[in-house]
Amino acid sequence: MRRDWDRRAKVDPRYWVAATEEADEASYLESAARDTAALLDGLGGRVPASGRVLDLGCGIGRMTAPLAGHFAEVVGVDVSPAMIEQARALHGAVDNLRFEANSGADLGAFADDSFDLVFSYSVLPHLPPEVVAAYFREANRVLADGGWLRYQFWIGPARQMADNDTLNIRVYDPEGFQALNRDAGFAVVEVEEIDYFDPVLELKPVWVTARRAGPPVEAAAADFSGRAAALSDDERDLEYGLLLYLAVKCAERGERAEAERALEEATACDPTRPEGWIQWATHRLERGDLRGARLLFESLTEQVPDLVAGWLYLGQCAAAEERWPEARAALERAEALGADDPETGDELAGLRALIDEAAPRPKRRRTRKKVVKRKRK
Ligand SMILES: C[S@@+](CC[C@H](N)C(=O)[O-])C[C@H]1O[C@@H](n2cnc3c(N)ncnc32)[C@H](O)[C@@H]1O
Repeated sequence: MRRDWDRRAKVDPRYWVAATEEADEASYLESAARDTAALLDGLGGRVPASGRVLDLGCGIGRMTAPLAGHFAEVVGVDVSPAMIEQARALHGAVDNLRFEANSGADLGAFADDSFDLVFSYSVLPHLPPEVVAAYFREANRVLADGGWLRYQFWIGPARQMADNDTLNIRVYDPEGFQALNRDAGFAVVEVEEIDYFDPVLELKPVWVTARRAGPPVEAAAADFSGRAAALSDDERDLEYGLLLYLAVKCAERGERAEAERALEEATACDPTRPEGWIQWATHRLERGDLRGARLLFESLTEQVPDLVAGWLYLGQCAAAEERWPEARAALERAEALGADDPETGDELAGLRALIDEAAPRPKRRRTRKKVVKRKRK
């Protein structure tokens, strides 16, 4: 979880925490105002202004910071030190606000009965259910008697993801949702729909308000060791798609360096998919960096050696740099893979004509056979 979110924080933390369609600063700030207002509205004054508040999975403080004006003390906690570092850089000057990194499964840095509200937005659905259950117990422990837990969640037909998936959304069925709260010693007081329809899940998320009703039921301590470290396939697909989307948005705004950064991350996320390499190289070509583009196409052909287009583009770049032997070698690989490919056939023929004209193959010299006359005896 830490590795995944640190990586995301380093590319574009605003994009990753707020996930707005526009993927820009203005929509990030708008989302912060909207989601904080919804958090406060739903609380309806249940937590006094003298209260202490904990934001679980605070990211860069999108909602934590605006709350500092409403409560005596606000603390943000997050598994990602990179998120926390940026939260501090952005909001470090506010007296009653602080940010701490944690283990990703407990609130061990905080004393029993020390908060009046624990809230969490767009965090719990990304976590494995056992981690959520552990956090609910911890929330119960750090909340004062009668304290409040308010969180964003998805309730509907159950949707589970691989344990190591930290990006896709998990949906709890109503029974699982009730059991989660009950077992952790919370009574659900209100569930409100959030005005956003997810087209993939065909569902709207909810805000849940729950009250600390008593101690959690007894349970063995959770053991989170030995978890798979690699990205799950679903997570890789989603992260890759979101990075490509971010690159398009950055390019639309003329933020080429940011677009290239997102594409670099996309190719690291899944080097076997061509789109990221091709889009990244296209940016380099557009800014006249032929060599840079060629090196990316070289990587593409290493990663996806059966892709005709990869060899074709590599050949075209090499030809543009007048690196004829490389251009010819790439062309020959492309032709061997599919000279008849309707998508690339014309371009291959064009490249062949260009190379043959600019750098015709040197004719082989005939070597005279040495005739060794045998001496007659
Ligand atoms: C989608 S972002 C939302 C951030 C913030 N709540 C907001 O709404 O702006 C999810 C955040 O949860 C954090 N996170 C993920 N897993 C966590 C865990 N196990 N414990 C604490 N934070 C976690 C990530 O580092 C990331 O900052």
